[in-house]
Amino acid sequence: MVKEQISKIAYKTLQQGKSIAGLAHKELSTRIMNFVLPDNKLGNLTIDKKLLVDIQNSMDRLREEDWNDAEKNIYPQKLLFDEPWLRYLTQYPKIWLDMPNTWDRRRKQNYKDLPKNIENENYPKYYLRNFHHQTDGYLSDFSASIYDLQVEILFNGSADAMRRRIIKPLKEGLNNFGNRKKSSLKILDVATGSGRTLKQLRGAFPKEKIIGLDLSGSYLKEASRFISNLNGDLIELIKGNAENLPFEDNSIQGITCVYLFHELPRTVRENVLKEFFRVLEPDGILILADSIQENDSPDFIQIMENFYKSFHEPFYCDYIKEDITSKIKDIGFNNIKSNSFFMTKVWSAIK
Ligand SMILES: C[S@@+](CC[C@H](N)C(=O)[O-])C[C@H]1O[C@@H](n2cnc3c(N)ncnc32)[C@H](O)[C@@H]1O
Repeated sequence: MVKEQISKIAYKTLQQGKSIAGLAHKELSTRIMNFVLPDNKLGNLTIDKKLLVDIQNSMDRLREEDWNDAEKNIYPQKLLFDEPWLRYLTQYPKIWLDMPNTWDRRRKQNYKDLPKNIENENYPKYYLRNFHHQTDGYLSDFSASIYDLQVEILFNGSADAMRRRIIKPLKEGLNNFGNRKKSSLKILDVATGSGRTLKQLRGAFPKEKIIGLDLSGSYLKEASRFISNLNGDLIELIKGNAENLPFEDNSIQGITCVYLFHELPRTVRENVLKEFFRVLEPDGILILADSIQENDSPDFIQIMENFYKSFHEPFYCDYIKEDITSKIKDIGFNNIKSNSFFMTKVWSAIK
């Protein structure tokens, strides 16, 4: 009992420390930017005191949920303390060195600043841009090498706690196949990026077959390094497009997809949902996690607006307004549920 109390305090302290570090970094970098390369177009992005308190409370609720799920053995407690410090240490100076390039791209509204060697015809048009004004978009090893820490800072150190919210509903959904061997079940993580979700999934699902798919070869290489030492069976990584998944109909039992939808045009979101429906086996489960939306998080609208004003996110404004639940239903899914945790909304749906 005492050990549990100490672990919980340690977890909360770790999370608070990361949150303070994230906020301090954002405050400092904004001040420096305003001094060195002021951008009048950004306007006033400050948030009022009440909103700050709401954010804090929402983060506290997320941590409580994260702790409770680990206590119930939905995933191992060690995932809560699993921080790649060495990786962060190498990423952090690179983020600072790259920051003036990002500011410059934002000031010039230059979002087509991509590596010259890429073959455009291999990628959908919407993808060929500098999302978040980030250097090389998703199309270089450099971009992949600093992505994780950038997201961690953006979410004040809560990114993995939010990603873990997919695990509980996924476990419940996979119970539909409880009479089968776990090693025969396939979980596909679409738009897996640099592998953070894969690590959480492997911790919670040591026996199932896990596959990560992404359009970016560079991000998959980064993911491969990140997950190479994990226990359990090898995780398969596939370069592919979510609009045209390289799997047969009815062949996958669980699909997860984290932080992809806000970066897709509406028509592509629909195509991707149809692909998910096609490849899932009947009774299979889809778990979608992405930004919160306007209708169910009205208190955080200012944060959502600040996000698309300060980052190049051309489809976000439409995303936060779309009734995704109805779209999922129209495509044929049943038993659709959704829940929001801090900045992330999680949908679950059964085919
Ligand atoms: C915001 S990142 C999210 C990455 C990861 N899921 C995470 O939690 O950090 C979006 C990812 O989606 C990938 N992506 C975008 N469009 C895609 C598509 N049509 N098919 C597959 N991956 C795509 C990008 O390459 C990028 O890795």
